[in-house]
Amino acid sequence: MKSRATIHRDFTISRIDDRLYSAFIEHMGRAIYTGIYEPDHPTANEHGFRKDVLELVRALKIPAIRYPGGNFVSAYKWEDGIGPKEDRPVRLDLAWRSKETNQVGINEFALWAEDAGIEMMLAVNLGTRGIEETRNFVEYCNFPSGSYWSDLRRSHGVEKPYGVRMWCLGNEMDGPWQTGQKTAREYGHLANEAAKAVKAFGKDIETIVCGSSNNEMPTYPEWERQVLEECYENVDYISLHNYYGNSSGDSLNFFAKAQETGRYIQAIGGTIDYVKAKKRAKNDIFICFDEWNVWYHNRAQDSKNWSEWDWPEAPALLEEDYNLEDALFIGGLLNEFIRRSDRVRIACIAQLVNIIAPIRAEKGGKAWATSIYFPYLFASLYGRGTALNVAVDCPLYDAEVASDVPYLDIAAVLAPDGRSLSVFAVNRHLKEAMEVDIALTGFGAARLIDHQMLGGNSAEARIANTSAEPGRIAPRAGGGLGVEDGALKGSLPPFSYHMIRLTLD
Ligand code: AHR
Repeated sequence: MKSRATIHRDFTISRIDDRLYSAFIEHMGRAIYTGIYEPDHPTANEHGFRKDVLELVRALKIPAIRYPGGNFVSAYKWEDGIGPKEDRPVRLDLAWRSKETNQVGINEFALWAEDAGIEMMLAVNLGTRGIEETRNFVEYCNFPSGSYWSDLRRSHGVEKPYGVRMWCLGNEMDGPWQTGQKTAREYGHLANEAAKAVKAFGKDIETIVCGSSNNEMPTYPEWERQVLEECYENVDYISLHNYYGNSSGDSLNFFAKAQETGRYIQAIGGTIDYVKAKKRAKNDIFICFDEWNVWYHNRAQDSKNWSEWDWPEAPALLEEDYNLEDALFIGGLLNEFIRRSDRVRIACIAQLVNIIAPIRAEKGGKAWATSIYFPYLFASLYGRGTALNVAVDCPLYDAEVASDVPYLDIAAVLAPDGRSLSVFAVNRHLKEAMEVDIALTGFGAARLIDHQMLGGNSAEARIANTSAEPGRIAPRAGGGLGVEDGALKGSLPPFSYHMIRLTLD
């Protein structure tokens, strides 16, 4: 198969917000307990956090992390997680039918985030709670001293306020599974009042209101319109969530779901514009795609070891052994976020450790990177700067979820200093190599400095990094590409992902 493309230095989409490569972690399953926190683990640091996991996390250079939920937050009392650990209550978590020991709360998590070099993005409970508890939480976290909650924080040994900038106003409030589900109007009104209370703590504060739980919800996209009509002026982002999988065994249809996500983003962008116009509002709202990933397991499959009415502590939930195909899909989805970075400012891979995650950690044992770790790593390290529009001419295919899907999926990012260019490419074809001829226009001389790839053989689509074989999928140096006559030329093997970097003179 042959393709031609053009990347022009001046054909820009948007400056990418670094937070496009953020993550999410929830009090759920073994994400926190025995995931990042395991005081008895051989690698545990003085705060009980696993250093082996921290090392894998740090390498990702994650800008921000959403915490503590997810569905969990909708019945969470943040006050249960502060003060002496021995006095903290054990609670029953309704979202995941688990026991929550509260041994990790905001102050422990803040230590972990600081150590990992990640900015916190906190979610508040608007399911069972409201404005009062929200403002108290913000005061505890962000107010310097001389008030009840800030002095309580100081009495817990945290002198300096955290200065948390990003606040999520609840989670998936349209979902019938949510504790405290609301109608769009009810939620929009509450979110507006909570946003005002949060914003009282500083002009840098940003609020994120819940959009639909996904684009198949019966109330989508009316939910977004009504919610935004209630709170437009007091929010900065609207959240999108989506989870994907190859349920039919059709890889090409699976890959096409990244393209369908582009339409989802476009629809919400249109809804934002409509409400802005209707309200004659001055402010802009962007998209915070704060939960996305591949998800196969369900709780029924995972709960073979306990009975339906148990409340297990840190049970193994949604622990996926991601395969090569999943990694290619994630590469394509990240490309879609880059192409839509004019609308999507923040995005969080969901989740980070053990639960549908790029990092797995055995209780008392080893930690390793799943296949999806690598495209996420490359995008986070080399996908910062300005997104460039890539004009592609290549063979297309039709799938169930989308038509005219290009076999070659490509995104390009010009580094902030303008001296290097990253190209992320997926050849989605199962059998055929893709000849590429990518004109590099307006850059001066370009030189290939790095080419890393995954895959290359669709017969290996289902191989995965597992506990027994944690290193089966790892990036390797690519070959067969070079710069010639101002163009990047060569061949991409079938079923492969590529991270290509060029220096520019
Ligand atoms: O990430 C797992 C769950 O998926 C989150 O708790 C929830 O927000 C979503 O439904």
